Amino acid sequence: MSNIDALIDAMAATFRACPEGHPGTSVGRAVAERLDALDRRATDISTAPRRVPAADTMDGVLDGAERGPGAALARALRPVLSRVAWHQTYTEAELGPDYLRNYGYFDIASPARGLIRTDALATGFMVIGPGRLYPAHYHPAVELYHVVAGAPDWSIDDGPWQSKPAGSFVFHPTMAVHAMRTGDRPFLALYAWLGDLNTSAKLGRPVRD
Ligand SMILES: [Fe+2]
Repeated sequence: MSNIDALIDAMAATFRACPEGHPGTSVGRAVAERLDALDRRATDISTAPRRVPAADTMDGVLDGAERGPGAALARALRPVLSRVAWHQTYTEAELGPDYLRNYGYFDIASPARGLIRTDALATGFMVIGPGRLYPAHYHPAVELYHVVAGAPDWSIDDGPWQSKPAGSFVFHPTMAVHAMRTGDRPFLALYAWLGDLNTSAKLGRPVRD
């Protein structure tokens, strides 16, 4: 089994473990099924590795994750890291240079940026360094997060901040406004989008009639 196969299996197992009764349970199962069904031969070798400054923190982030409930996922991710293409949705003008130095994400499977190209879902990992606020934003895709490392606070639809320690799942319905802030530890997330995969997240709040 290749390293990417092993990582995809670990990601599917994680999403499948979203507990019964959680708002994201059915999406977690759908994501797991779509990961299981991926054409593993569709690994796009033309996806050139790409780095952002936050990529340099990943050895330490994974060391932390391996001491917690995200250990299996972290161990599966480590050997794939050198191949991934890091991206940032936002610019320095939007979120400032400190945030941009401490944040990034990469897709493992997605329509345009994944190591495996698929229209079935977008899924990958995001890291946010300590002491950062990812301000309110929204997107039409439904989204399920799993906290692999750290203990970020989370607000959905401008509700109260709630701590989401490693092992937590967080579900965002379509267009839900969500924000995260990190404490003294970096936050590593596994995420998946279903639905509209081609409309990026936007900062702020949607205009509602
Ligand atoms: Fe989101």
